[in-house]
Amino acid sequence: MKNGLFITFEGGDACGKSTQVKLFKEYVATRKDKDDFVFVREPGGTGLGEKIRELLLSYEEDSPVPKAELLLFLASRAQLFEKVISPAISEGKIVVADRFYDSTIAYQGFAREIFDAEEILKLNKLILGKFKPNLTFYLKIKPEIAFKRKNSGENLDRMEKEALAFHQKVYEGYQFISKKEKERFVVLDATKSIEELHNEIVASVENLIKNSTKKV
Ligand code: TMP
Repeated sequence: MKNGLFITFEGGDACGKSTQVKLFKEYVATRKDKDDFVFVREPGGTGLGEKIRELLLSYEEDSPVPKAELLLFLASRAQLFEKVISPAISEGKIVVADRFYDSTIAYQGFAREIFDAEEILKLNKLILGKFKPNLTFYLKIKPEIAFKRKNSGENLDRMEKEALAFHQKVYEGYQFISKKEKERFVVLDATKSIEELHNEIVASVENLIKNSTKKV
């Protein structure tokens, strides 16, 4: 692959990630190189992936067993990686993903306890080879605080409906992976204001672009 860049946003449910991705998109729209950016989300980001997303998050009649859940997340990733991320990186684009394999470590590895983190990383390697994000924003917040500030009127999806103990294990999973791969992680204190977090994100991305070989 050539010199594109890959940036991911991560965090437990209700951490404020969607708000930050939205603000970041708005910021990108003001940049003169805005066409160099490609936004994707996981699960989803392709026709097939969006169908898988629906099955994973909304289809409750026959919820997937944990191993089926893991494989569906991986199927969505394989499709997204080969059809969208890899070609865009080869063209020198900056791909921004709302979730990637750190979510699988935290949710299916730590919270579902299907396989351990090393095994989940190995499965991801089958799809991605050595490919990794250049930069990962992790919005760190304890789930008990995150869920308290979430709008109680909002519809919760299948993962959000899991018990607090599940979300605490997700939190532990993120501690693990953010320490293991700390060279790419920017750990953000998600209790800070929306604006402060946005400014930190923009500063880190500008820094990454400045220090990369990519010409913008
Ligand atoms: P979100 O994109 O709105 O944050 O919702 C995606 C949900 O799917 C969220 O609860 C995290 C979960 N998830 C996993 O459990 N494993 C994964 O590999 C991914 C990408 C997401």
